This record gives sequence, C-alpha cells and structure tokens, in this order.
Amino acid sequence: MTEVVRLENLRKVYGSGETEVVALADANLTLHEGEVSAVLGPSGSGKTTMLMCLGCITEPTSGTMSIGGEEVYGDGGWKRRDLRRLRREKMGFIFQAHNLIPFLNILDNVVIAAELVGTPRKESAKKAMELLEYLEVAHRADKFPATLSGGERQRVAIARALVHGPSLILADEPTAALDTDRGRKVVTLLKDLARKRGVGVIVVTHDVRMVEGFDSVYHMKDGAILDSE
Ligand SMILES: Nc1ncnc2c1ncn2[C@@H]1O[C@H](COP(=O)(O)OP(=O)(O)OP(=O)(O)O)[C@@H](O)[C@H]1O
Ligand SMILES: [Mg+2]
Repeated sequence: MTEVVRLENLRKVYGSGETEVVALADANLTLHEGEVSAVLGPSGSGKTTMLMCLGCITEPTSGTMSIGGEEVYGDGGWKRRDLRRLRREKMGFIFQAHNLIPFLNILDNVVIAAELVGTPRKESAKKAMELLEYLEVAHRADKFPATLSGGERQRVAIARALVHGPSLILADEPTAALDTDRGRKVVTLLKDLARKRGVGVIVVTHDVRMVEGFDSVYHMKDGAILDSE
C-alpha cells in the first residue's frame, strides 16, 4: 500500500528553559492510502500539535516526516514555498477554529479552495454545492459566515477542506459542534473518501463512538503515542 505520510521520532518543543513544553515526544505514525486513523488522548496531550506538524503548519523541533514518500522535515527538508503548495494542493484541514473568510459568502468560501488549485469556477461551484448539500448547509449558500450557527460553520469548513480533492485529510474534532446524526454523516463521508478515492484521513476526537470501523486508533499521552490498535 502506498504511504501517504510517515512520522519518525517527531518531536516538538515550545518555548525554552523554564517555560519549555514538550508538546510532541518522539511520535511515530504511518498512514497509507485509503486508511482512516483516529487520534485519542486527554486535553494537552499533543493531538493538535501533531496535526499541525502533519499539515506543515508547525515546524517540528526534530525527527523526520515524509509525505508521499518524500521527506518534508529532516535532513533534506523542503523549502517553505514548496510546503505552502503541498498544503494547498494535497491537504484538507478541518480545524477547531474554522477560519472561514468573513467577507465571502458560504458558497465562495468553499469554491475558493478549489479555484486556488486551478479548478475552473464552474466545476468548483458544482463540487462545492454537492458537498454543501450532503452536509445539509446548501440552503445557506448565499449567507455570510457570521450569520451561521456553530454547527453550520463547522460543516462549511468541512466542505471547504474537501472540495479540492486532497490526498491527506487532517481533522481536529470535526464533529464537536454537531449532533449525533450529522456527526455520523461527516464520519461516513470521510470513510467514503478513504475507501473510494484512496484518501488518507487522520481524525482527532474525544468521541470514542466515532472511531468504529477506523483502520487504526492511536492513543496519546503527554506528547507520546502510547499504542495503536
Ligand atoms: N503555541 C504554543 N506555545 C506554547 N505551548 C503550546 C503551544 N501550543 C500548544 N502548546 C502546549 O503543548 C501541549 C500540547 O498541546 P495541544 O494543543 O497539542 O494539545 P491537544 O491534545 O490538542 O489538547 P486539546 O484536546 O485540549 O485540544 C500543551 O501543554 C499546550 O499547552
Ligand atoms: Mg487540540
């Protein structure tokens, strides 16, 4: 199976001296195409930090990370510009802060993610509407983010993370603001993308009910990955 991402002894230390925090302590993880993995662990255990490293948003302190078999951090690390492109083209982020663009309506917030990687407007809009419909927020397409509920904004953020067809999806508590049924729908969508399109998916969650049918479940504590099942 083709490898999407691999972390080897990845370490992230914030601050220095007395304020030093080891947020990630020698984490090891491998994800293949079509695999869905969950990351569980208490607050402060390093889950978001690991996703931020995987998403090339936070630079690790040491260790190596490769994406699609190419080393991103490590001895032969990449340049920042390449990382930005990699992020935009290959990755889909669903983060805790949704970061929707306040002056664009819902449809344009989603469309722009596809247009940024060169998809024509018409095709981008079609894909965006399909996702918004599946996620039950299509009726808000012409509204602005500020007028939506937290759960609606979360679903829009999910549509935006998926519209450009990423090969790696990183999701931080993607169902936190959703009711059980809508949460389940989001998980089904992520699993389908893995099974049908070979996307690699990593989901951070507190919700153990969500991880049913996942290929692997990692448990984190104090920045370390304790075990996987
Ligand atoms: N930018 C930062 N500067 C300093 N310390 C940080 C920073 N970001 C995170 N930390 C610290 O690193 C540790 C891991 O944080 P992280 O956000 O990865 O945890 P988490 O598992 O995602 O927690 P939660 O479940 O609450 O979201 C915590 O001790 C946190 O206080
Ligand atoms: Mg977090």
